[in-house]
Amino acid sequence: MDAFSRTILDWYAANGRDLPWRRTQNPYAVWLSEIILQQTRIAQGTAYWQRFMERFPTVQDLADASEDEVLRLWEGLGYYSRARNLHAAARQIVALGAFPDTLEGIRALKGVGDYTAAAIGSICFGLPAAVVDGNVYRVLARHFGLATPVGTPQAKKEFTALAQKLLPEAEASAFNQGLMDFGALQCTPQNPDCLTCPLQASCNAFRTGRVSLLPVKKSPVAVQERHSSYIYVRCNGSTAIRKRGPGDIWQGLYEPLAIESPTASGVMAEENYFSQGFAKNQFSSSEIRLLHQGVKHQLTHRTLICDFYLWEPADRPELPEGYFWIKEAELDRYAKPRLFELLIQEVEKTTL
Ligand code: ADE
Ligand code: SF4
Repeated sequence: MDAFSRTILDWYAANGRDLPWRRTQNPYAVWLSEIILQQTRIAQGTAYWQRFMERFPTVQDLADASEDEVLRLWEGLGYYSRARNLHAAARQIVALGAFPDTLEGIRALKGVGDYTAAAIGSICFGLPAAVVDGNVYRVLARHFGLATPVGTPQAKKEFTALAQKLLPEAEASAFNQGLMDFGALQCTPQNPDCLTCPLQASCNAFRTGRVSLLPVKKSPVAVQERHSSYIYVRCNGSTAIRKRGPGDIWQGLYEPLAIESPTASGVMAEENYFSQGFAKNQFSSSEIRLLHQGVKHQLTHRTLICDFYLWEPADRPELPEGYFWIKEAELDRYAKPRLFELLIQEVEKTTL
């Protein structure tokens, strides 16, 4: 075995994290943890994993649930396509009759890519597949002095081949998880603990003084700004929402009256709300109140900038396409994006 791999295994035996899904080889529990952890930190992810395991102890329970309920339990984690894929994959697994136990079989589940398939395959079935996540990229880039920009197809090929070469086939689970934990605890993005590092003597980045320069990041894609107004309409204890459709962010989640505009100003300008299906003169200025201007919400490739309004018309207005009335007390039955939760908090503040 490569000295690097031996060191990772020894380090993991002494320092590996005690995570609840590591106490089981139940592929359902491990799969659930890997989907949750795809874009979520361990501390936050653990609470969600526990909640899901409690509510859906088996894959059958998850498959039997409605998509709405799964989204509601997912609320706050973001990247909601993960939840929709999770639900669809649960139904795939139930249809198969058992959790797939080959790499190709696992990879065929919705929402499972190369990384997740390798993680589940190695942890649950001992399959000799190397995982390559952000932690692994960082540790390998530093230790072996590799400057290929992360996030490029070239890097994926190169780092996967290297990780696969280093993988001790009989200990794939411990090696993969050891490498991830090593990146999370020892060889961290900022201020890695090189002084106590068992790999220091062989570490290329340490020797050449490039620890802070590796891994090399690809130049970031431009972040797009999107402006909108969120209008909480309140009429005799009811409010209006709609379910977001496919083809954009937040598919399947519920939102308040929303007016979207590509530009910063004039979100509430007449042509805007008129074009989005609101009848002319529907808003009278005495009924509508600006609660908060320019609330920022960061998504991966977008910054959303939103103005919050409370609109209290005397009579129920005509609603635009897709909207329907619900009792305000029923709002928490609907899965909502974080930005809508913030609007509700603002509304509650003004009406306390
Ligand atoms: N991040 C995601 N999955 C993980 C795992 N199995 N071990 C450590 N970190 C992880
Ligand atoms: Fe990472 Fe520093 Fe150890 Fe190198 S010496 S592997 S940079 S912690």
